[in-house]
Formats: sequence, structure tokens, C-alpha cells
Amino acid sequence: MSPSAPSQEFRAYVNAREKRDVLRFITCGSVDDGKSTLIGRLLYESKLIFEDQLARVEADSKRHGTLGGALDLALLVDGLQAEREQGITIDVAYRTFSTDKRSFIVADTPGHEQYTRNMATGASTADLAIVLIDARKGVMPQTRRHTTILSLLGIRHVLLAINKMDLVSWSHTVHEGIVGVYRDFARQLDVTDVTCIPVSALTGDNVVEPSTVMNWYHGPTLLQALESADVATNRGSAPFRMPVQWVNRPDAGFRGFAGTIASGLVRPGDPVLICPAQKPSTVSRIVTADGDLTCARPGQAVTLTLADEIDVSRGDVIASTNQPPGQSDQFACHLIWMHENALLPKRPYLLKIGTCVAGAQITALKYTLNVESLERVAAKTLELNDIAYCNISLDRQIAFDAYRELRETGGFILIDRYTHETVGAGMIDFALRRASNLTRQKFTVDKPTRSAQKNQKACVLWLTGLSGAGKSTTANAVEQRLHALGRHSYVLDGDNLRHGLTKDLGFTPADRVENVRRIAEVAKLFVDAGLIVLVSVISPFRDEREMARRMMDEGEFIEVFVDAPLEVCEQRDPKGLYRKARAGEIKNFTGIDSAYEPPEQPEILLKTGERSVDDLADEIIAYLRSRVDQAEP
Ligand code: ADX
Repeated sequence: MSPSAPSQEFRAYVNAREKRDVLRFITCGSVDDGKSTLIGRLLYESKLIFEDQLARVEADSKRHGTLGGALDLALLVDGLQAEREQGITIDVAYRTFSTDKRSFIVADTPGHEQYTRNMATGASTADLAIVLIDARKGVMPQTRRHTTILSLLGIRHVLLAINKMDLVSWSHTVHEGIVGVYRDFARQLDVTDVTCIPVSALTGDNVVEPSTVMNWYHGPTLLQALESADVATNRGSAPFRMPVQWVNRPDAGFRGFAGTIASGLVRPGDPVLICPAQKPSTVSRIVTADGDLTCARPGQAVTLTLADEIDVSRGDVIASTNQPPGQSDQFACHLIWMHENALLPKRPYLLKIGTCVAGAQITALKYTLNVESLERVAAKTLELNDIAYCNISLDRQIAFDAYRELRETGGFILIDRYTHETVGAGMIDFALRRASNLTRQKFTVDKPTRSAQKNQKACVLWLTGLSGAGKSTTANAVEQRLHALGRHSYVLDGDNLRHGLTKDLGFTPADRVENVRRIAEVAKLFVDAGLIVLVSVISPFRDEREMARRMMDEGEFIEVFVDAPLEVCEQRDPKGLYRKARAGEIKNFTGIDSAYEPPEQPEILLKTGERSVDDLADEIIAYLRSRVDQAEP
């Protein structure tokens, strides 16, 4: 997954080592499975720890260790500096070590809370995974979840390390039982290459040296398995892709496109396509700080110059002409949800793929996976760690590859628009072409014509606030004034629309998102018709109000916060709903057991508890007048 891919220095290191066979792997396990101890043991016994590190671990073991001062190898790994990707709150520490046979890069994923998120990040660049199991517990739900994620991320090679064998008396039967269950599960996920190794990270049995007590086991030790794993990848032969990070234009004479090569090779003279626009050109030079190159490979940060003067911007992908990426704005994809706040279909998120950021909405949740049974289950929202299959729609065309064909340009992350936190990771399955044969029809009588005929400037007054705050009352008073002034208006009222347009929706967060989306679409049409639209809906979430704002033209969306304290609304209780909500007869009632996110910077703030309706309506009319005056100098 490119957005969470390792840093440039790290990639450079990988390149330097590429000639020597490099294996990238990840370790997956629950908190107490002994993940860190196992890696620590691996490094320690194969003498891969530097002396100073060892001294530190010895000192730390005495201070913080859980083994009564004995060497706590977990500290070696847990103490690693996390690598923090710019702007993305994911911690993955990459640890590198080598034996005579191979170099290794371990993605260690610290942080127990956000484990799935970190794991998905680490796994997106790995060839193989060590899945740790506590022999006393066997295959746990976590084990299944992790294996499902590994499979989605395209990892086909697993070393199943059945750890803590010392605590089950080195039992062959226990081992066989776990192996049987795990293999059955992995087979269903297409994880075909599974090597099962009974180990004890604590005593070191079968980690680096063969166990002397488990005579029934004749397979490789963990290190041997790592050294001999056959994970042939097509990294070198994959088609060329370079997401453009920035346009380098130091002076009029030079124009280069800087980025890190995601896959394939590039040479001067290579024909390329700038995607998604699919404009053809030819690579002129490959510029780096150390001089021009004759060839550049994955992981290298370079600046390409092209033979033609064409428009290229950040987020575009420069790609091989022979095997170009696809382009689309709608996809079917796998999605791993990584946030405590549920995914709500239709909510606007940001999607980051390579260096490209686009607005995104999940348009259909097809199913989530029950990780125990791998059954497909219908779902309306996604909770933390859910794994789903869904359709996603973007606000622009992007260049992409199917994840199974090219991880680098097929993986994406979803980002919350407000907090900028990473909330999900996705893998593109295929593009949906449904909308590709649609165009926009232009009509001669358009919004300005219609507005002018009505002698007004179309806009939306979006009244948001708690139930009982006075939205509809205010809207009514404003519309009366507009009418008297000869203006053309319409009120879209939440309660009224729920008898028709939004009849099928309830009050769950997901339904409210859809409610507001539909009303915003209608408001947009009415603005296009030249009307002054008054929207009166609770619209409790900022994300959707902002979505409505983005749907309108600059200056057309006027957010009016009809602000009355909950106590006041509850006291008014015009429909008796607060009383019912308090009595538990209505669930998900805004302000009681469902959130209301007040606007941060509304165009108009109305404190309805303190003022008369006439006064409030006058303020809105005054605002509309000033808006027209400003537009007519
Ligand atoms: S919104 O949250 O989806 O924007 P909307 O404005 O359409 O809500 O509808 C709110 C109206 O529905 C309220 O004025 C109230 O009369 C009624 N209602 C019924 N149940 C609820 C509820 N659980 N929460 C809020 N309003 C409710």
C-alpha cells in the first residue's frame, strides 16, 4: 500500500540490498503470544545484535524486564524507534538483519490498541508472515483475523510459529491439533504455503537451533525456514509506475516530475503515459542529486523530465505505455476498517492512493466477513477491525491497478476529513464502469438565467440544530418575509420529507448520513432552479454538512446554526419527543443518546433561547441583503 510505504532512506537501503536476496516479513500475534521475544531471540542467537544494544537490553531487563532480571529479549524489539510516516498515524518499526544466506527486513508493529492498523501497514510490503500462536490457546479469533488480512494483502507464505511449547510439555499432539485447524482455515483463504514450526521463544528451541527435546519434529528451525522460504516476487519485472509527488520547476528552463518509483524500471527514451489523463510522452532524463541515471528501479527517488510539454501534476502516475494502469472513479474493493468510529456509507472521506488524494464515499457495503467462519454477513456500517467488501465512488478519475496485480498502485487508505486520521485500508479489486457512459447535458436556460428571471441570487440557508431548537419556526418566518418581498423560495423540512423522499430512513447514524445526502442533492437542484432554499434538518454531523457545502458553488451555502441549549429544547418539547426519549421509548434521539456536532464557523449563529422569532428572521434577511449588495458593487 503505497501511502503507508516505508520512507525513502528505508527504500534506498532495500535497494542496496536488493542484489543480495532480501526477504521482507512481518510478525503477527496477539499481545501475549511472545512476538517480541521471538524476534529478540532470533536476533540474539544468530548474533545479530550489536554489542551496545545488548548492553542496553541487559540494563533494561534489570529495570523493566518481566523475567526477574534475566535477559528479556522482548525489550530489544519493543524498544525500537517507531517509524512515523508523514501525516499518517501508523507506527511500524522496520528492523533489518542479515545472515550468510539472506538479508531480512522485519516489519514490527508495536502498539497493542491499533494492532490491526499497524499490521496491515507492515504486511503491505511483506513477502511472508510469521503467525504466532500460543500453544496453550491454539488458533484464536485474532489468528483468524490476522490470517484473513494477510491473505487480502496478498501474502501467500506463512510460517506458523507455535510458541510456548515448553508450557504444553513439548506435546506433539497439541502441535498436530493446532496445525490441523490452522491449515484448514488458511486453505480457504488461498494461503497455500504454510510451514508449521513448534518453538519456544523463551528457551530458544527451534528458533535458531534445532530443539533437543522435540524429537518428533523434523522440519526446519524458524531461521532456517526464513532463510530458505521461496517467495519469488515479480518486483523487477512489474510494469513501470511512478506517482508524481511534486513538480520541480526551479527555473524556466527545467521542468521535472519528482517521485519515488513504485514498481518497474525506467530508462531515458522509454515511452510513458501520464495517467489518468493518458497523455503520451517519452522520458528524457532521470535526474538525481548524484547525477543522471541510465536506469532507475523501485524505491528510488528520482526526478523525470519528459520530451513533451504536457500538464503533469501531483497525484498523476507516470506509467509504462505497454502495460498502463486503468483509470476510473468507481471501484469494488476490500476494506479493513481501523477506527473506533464506525464507517458510515455515503459519508465523505478522503482516499489516498500513491500521491493522489480524492474525495470518496462508500456507495454500497456488499458484506463483511465473519472471520471465524469466513461467512459473508450483511452490514450497514463497519466497526473497528471489520473486514468488508464494498463499492467506493470518488470525486475524480484516478490511475490504479488491481491490488492483486500491483500492490503499490492498488492499495489505498481512507482518511477522516476532520481529524486526518487513517480510518481504513483498502485493496482495489476492479473498476466499476457503470457510470462511464454518462455525460452531462447542458441546457441553455441555466442557473444564472433562472435566478435572474426571479430577480434574486439562488442560495441555500441550511438551518441546523437540535430538535425543538426553532429551525422550522425560523424557516417559516424567513419564508414569509421572502414571499412578501416577491422572492421565490422553498423549505425542505426534515420532518416533512420523512413522509416521502426519506420515508425509508430511520435515525441511526448511517440513516442520518443518507437523509442529509438526499436533502442536499435536492437543495442543489432547487438552487439550480434559481430558488432561495431553506433547509431545516437537524443534520447532526459536520461531515455531511460540509459535504452539502462542497456540493454548492462558492458562497451559495449559508450555514445557520439554530442554537438553543438542550435544556431549553427539552423544556419546549413541542412534539413530546424528549419526554419519550428520556423514558426510553425513542432510541438514538439527538442530544439524548445520539450526538450533535455543532458547527464550528456557521455563517449565521442564532441564539433562539434569547430572541424573538421576528428578530431572528430579520437577521437572516439582513444577511441575504448584504450578500446581494456585496455582489453588486
Ligand atoms: S436528521 O438528524 O436526520 O437530520 P431530521 O431533521 O430529518 O433529522 O428529522 C428530525 C425530526 O424527526 C425531529 O424534529 C423529530 O421530530 C423527529 N424524530 C423522531 N425520532 C428522532 C430521533 N431519534 N432523533 C431526532 N429526531 C427524531
